[in-house]
Amino acid sequence: MTRLQNAIVGGVRAVLGHVPASWLPGGTPDPLIDKRVALGGQQSRVDGPDKVRGAARFAAEVPMEGLLYAAFVHSTIARGKIAELDISAAQAAPGVALVMTYQNAPRMSVPPPIGMTNLKAAGNHTLPIMQDAEIRWNGQVVAVILAETREQADHAATLVRVRYDAMAARTRFEEGKASAYTPESILVERNRLDKGDARRKFAEAACKVDAVYTTPWENHNPIEPHAATIVWREGKLIVHDATQMVHGTAGSLAKIFGLKAGDVHVSSPYVGGGFGAKGLWDHQILGAAAAKLTGRPVRVTLSRASMHRLVGGRTQTEQRVALAADADGKLKALLHQGYGVKPQHSVCDEGFSLTGRSLYASESFDIVQHYVDLDLLANSFMRGPGETPGTFAIECAMDELAHALGMDPIELRRINAASRDPVSGAPHSQNAMMEAYDLGAARIGWDRRTAEPGMRRDGEWLIGMGCATGTFPFTRMPGTSVRITIDAAGDAHVASAAHEMGMGTATVQRQHAADRLGLPLDRVTVTIGDSSLPFASFAGGSSQTASLAAAISAASGKLAVQLMRMAGNDTPLAGLKPGEVEFADGGLRSVEDPARHESFASILGRAGRHELSVVGESGAPLEILKYAMHSTSAIFCELRVSNVTGEIRVDRLVGAFDCGRILNAKTAASQFKGGMIMGLGMALTEETLLDERTGRIMSTSLADYHVPVHLDVPDIDVLWTDIPDPRTPLGARGIGEIGTTGVAAALANAVFNATGKRVRDLPLTLDKLI
Ligand code: MOS
Repeated sequence: MTRLQNAIVGGVRAVLGHVPASWLPGGTPDPLIDKRVALGGQQSRVDGPDKVRGAARFAAEVPMEGLLYAAFVHSTIARGKIAELDISAAQAAPGVALVMTYQNAPRMSVPPPIGMTNLKAAGNHTLPIMQDAEIRWNGQVVAVILAETREQADHAATLVRVRYDAMAARTRFEEGKASAYTPESILVERNRLDKGDARRKFAEAACKVDAVYTTPWENHNPIEPHAATIVWREGKLIVHDATQMVHGTAGSLAKIFGLKAGDVHVSSPYVGGGFGAKGLWDHQILGAAAAKLTGRPVRVTLSRASMHRLVGGRTQTEQRVALAADADGKLKALLHQGYGVKPQHSVCDEGFSLTGRSLYASESFDIVQHYVDLDLLANSFMRGPGETPGTFAIECAMDELAHALGMDPIELRRINAASRDPVSGAPHSQNAMMEAYDLGAARIGWDRRTAEPGMRRDGEWLIGMGCATGTFPFTRMPGTSVRITIDAAGDAHVASAAHEMGMGTATVQRQHAADRLGLPLDRVTVTIGDSSLPFASFAGGSSQTASLAAAISAASGKLAVQLMRMAGNDTPLAGLKPGEVEFADGGLRSVEDPARHESFASILGRAGRHELSVVGESGAPLEILKYAMHSTSAIFCELRVSNVTGEIRVDRLVGAFDCGRILNAKTAASQFKGGMIMGLGMALTEETLLDERTGRIMSTSLADYHVPVHLDVPDIDVLWTDIPDPRTPLGARGIGEIGTTGVAAALANAVFNATGKRVRDLPLTLDKLI
């Protein structure tokens, strides 16, 4: 059993009562898999009209009397001590209300770290924040300026003079590798996997490839930079935040400031993109501290540069993948080892080595990853953590092996596609990876690909096609709760402290609740994004939809029980047990005799009630104890490479996804396409430029850090198998992160097919192709 499973089993007793029997291992599938009315449709986002009209209020837009604006001064060394801090000019500058430094900042505890077993925390590192003169990374905040306007704050920030006693800092990856450490576990999996004598099998195999793949540091660039509007009222802390973890942020801030959990209120109804970055970083903590010190509300809006200095990035990786096969292409050994950076104070794992454990039925495995500890800002989670860089290495290696074998790359995957978990032997809950390949191959026209590289030409352009597998595990967070309230009119109102960062959370759960409760869509509302609502874990790990779905399902079961109790004997439903009724037509009806029906409004009216509320909870994800549960995809790319400049132009991208049932075709297509565009950026342009002499990030603007722009993005086709997963709520698995995985490998493989050049180092810039 993995550590995740151990952790879950440990928590099972507390929540077992809330686990719907249908999702216990071996249980029957969710009935809504086949009874769908609103689900599966093309519902537009419920938050769309407000966003288009500008009525949706983001964290930096919340109006507040007497606001002060914050600007940050960042350290320019990676390690050492502040020797002298001259804030006199800043303090005297126009509009400045306060300069906060370690000398006057309130006492604060270190942030409790986020974790799979600590869903009520949100911290990404465990360092003290502005409590002493120590500098621990290049970019750490050394002073916070608070002024009447943002411009005044920014100006005053330029007037702060800092002298440092610098110490030798560890900032070089190559040097750090020598003293790398090997953690026991990655995320919650055991790190080292040594199964079936892989090193011997590799040495003896007929056909093998063995190469090192590297991926660079990447930084987050959501359209909305991090922001918070913060105020203290009567000893309580109120934070209007841009976060994908309202409860985690509230819980952490309570610990940091020594408050009761209920004394911190975090609201975040809209988030302009998260991707893993919108957790708790120093800016909210410093903003809250400054608001406490001044007694005035504070607005923190990070500039792009401050974001790159304060919000971690995805670590660079160096991954060796060695694959051995027999002459028929059957994998004999899969070796995957490598390095990433994870400072000791950093919480986030980049589990690239988890990728190759689930996809292919290799006879043996030798897998382990190591971390380099550097004096850098803590890492962040970034869409598809682990699998995004991991698939680049594994899936390029598979392409190299196919070429070495003289075999079609899809055929090689077909021969090796795992029919069960290749390590644990657990059966898949549902898996149709090769059907995704078939769908995608037909759509892109894979038969036009030439096996021999460099054979297709159009003037200076060399044309090629490539493919790669994407993958991401299923999970569901225990403890996620929703409240369903039926009002006197018989309408349903769903509420949970869940998150909307662009993916359509409320939209899809509204579809779900409508179908679950037998109501038309316009009689269901969904409220999310506020820590005063029932607990929900983070919007992360592609887990939120399944977690909320499980909670709504559990709540609906309780609702039926309560309604039957309330209905009493003077009802067409009299004498029926809760298990003998179902939701339909705005009420309950007998399963046996559908003519026996009473509406919610009628039941509440007869009982003289204005409303009825129940809370349901997503229990422990016991299904993952018994089943191997992963979403998979087949990514295809057709592109051209100039033989004059080395420039790559991507002509087409196709993503075929096997993620269980798709709940909303429109929002799902957006998720997949958005993920694939992030993958495109990773493949072609994204690269954080870190000055290894100083540990300073140089690429702190969108002019220096290149995300794909409109003209970089080709036509993208997304397809899905839509085969229900009988072991998940609604038959669906997560879709938020898988889109990014596999894309960079598909592009690199297409570049090889076009040119015969194998680039193993991302991004695929033209200097590597000339
Ligand atoms: Mo995701 S990296 O769990 O937001």
